[in-house]
Amino acid sequence: MCEKSCVAFCKQLTLEDVEKTANFLKSKVDIQPRIGIICGTGLAGITSLLNNPEVIPYANIPYFPIATVAGHGNKLIFGYLGPTPVVCMQGRFHFFEGYPLWQVVFPVRVMKLLGISTLVLTNGAGSINNSYAVGDIMFIKDHINLVNFGGMNPLQGYNDESFGQRFVPMNEVYDLNILKIAKTTAKELRMKGIQEGVYACVGGPSFETVAEAKALKVLGADVVGTSTVHEVIAAKHCGLKCFAFSLITTKCPMDYGGKNTIMHEDILAVGKSREAEVLRFMQRLFANLAQQNAA
Ligand code: HPA
Repeated sequence: MCEKSCVAFCKQLTLEDVEKTANFLKSKVDIQPRIGIICGTGLAGITSLLNNPEVIPYANIPYFPIATVAGHGNKLIFGYLGPTPVVCMQGRFHFFEGYPLWQVVFPVRVMKLLGISTLVLTNGAGSINNSYAVGDIMFIKDHINLVNFGGMNPLQGYNDESFGQRFVPMNEVYDLNILKIAKTTAKELRMKGIQEGVYACVGGPSFETVAEAKALKVLGADVVGTSTVHEVIAAKHCGLKCFAFSLITTKCPMDYGGKNTIMHEDILAVGKSREAEVLRFMQRLFANLAQQNAA
């Protein structure tokens, strides 16, 4: 535990703690991952793509939290996606579960020490953009971090320079080359309902009011969710390339009296119904990334 900071974040884990976790994992598995993958709500099936999987439950990993949201598997799975060695988080941690942001992003730093150079993040999100449909896939080109607007950021507290510098530029945080390859991949597969847009991150777990959804639209958001950007910030801090996409699982209510009340079960059902398409995309994306040496 960190003794270097006297602020309220004094329980932050240090480089030594991250190393301890990474070394534990290295002692358990032979695979040296090049890409990390974080499975979003309803997207745990991505791990079924992995060949020669080696599975470690979160409960066995030093300092790892436990994901409490239904549909998150609580397993770290190493394996090969096509030719690429990967480590896949089947289950992520959210701020609204009560975890401080530095703990939400702890696995990103562990994956960095395991040797990844790229992080692929997925999530389920609600659409603000009226032209998006449930089941669409939106490649994230930028984000609006309302949790940061509210004064909370995973990089707050003591900054360990061995991970990255104190102040982190956040322009071009989503890798343009990988984004381009993702778009080409979707075209190759003749996928329908592919979008590219801006993800707004809120704290959750309450979903948006009509007024909040309208406000997000004015701000320039296309979708809204409660994850991803914290991990992206930690990834950018330690020099990882990032690619992220949202599966549109709900449409945010933009008017009063509508029928589209959001339920978590509906979000999981959309994940299930679009699973085959997401897996087809991931398989081809990883083949293309490997072929172009892009990740
Ligand atoms: N808001 C926040 N998170 C979400 C939503 C939403 O409407 N839908 C799926 N995840």
